[in-house]
Amino acid sequence: MIRRASLHGARGSEAPGSADLAWIVELGARAFADLGDYRDILGAWLTQDNVSAWIAEPDGERRGFTVIGFFGGDDNVADLLAIAVEPAWQSRGLGRQLLDHSVAVAAATARAGRLRELRLCVADDNFIGQRMYRTGGFHRVVGEFGAYPGGQRAVRMVYPLLTQP
Ligand SMILES: CC(C)(COP(=O)(O)OP(=O)(O)OC[C@H]1O[C@@H](n2cnc3c(N)ncnc32)[C@H](O)[C@@H]1OP(=O)(O)O)[C@@H](O)C(=O)NCCC(=O)NCCS
Repeated sequence: MIRRASLHGARGSEAPGSADLAWIVELGARAFADLGDYRDILGAWLTQDNVSAWIAEPDGERRGFTVIGFFGGDDNVADLLAIAVEPAWQSRGLGRQLLDHSVAVAAATARAGRLRELRLCVADDNFIGQRMYRTGGFHRVVGEFGAYPGGQRAVRMVYPLLTQP
């Protein structure tokens, strides 16, 4: 089962963080430790109004998450900011379910939100992640997209949403 994460307790400077938010930050910090310190990065993303998260609970416990940001302006895109599964639960299909859910959420809001694409960045040495995205319908964009604090180059991949202007 995949459900929307409750992040509202974290909004506002004096509100306490929610259990969902704390769990996502804790797993994310572990899952992305090679890339840098994701504790602060995830915490900052998850308190933005344009960022939403979903949690996979195949056995009733939190086992994986996906985080999506929706960015407007001239360049309307959804950004798959992070996706991670507890190590003990990996390679059982949860990452694929979370990715398919992310694509479905972005596709459902594409027309109303005029979203051009769902995009993401993945480390150049993360072959499992790149393979999951490629077989999930994303294609790699040629170009320079910077580097993570850990030194890995960022690979940009996109899933086209709106093809008509
Ligand atoms: C990437 C990640 C989310 C995949 O989650 P998962 O639950 O293990 O993945 P699934 O079992 O659903 O498999 C999805 C796809 O990932 C790839 N994959 C998963 N495990 C793999 C392995 N051991 N070897 C190679 N590819 C693998 C495959 O492409 C697989 O699809 P396929 O079986 O149809 O070929 C998980 O490994 C993870 O949390 N990694 C750390 C964080 C991370 O790298 N996130 C992605 C970048 S933001």
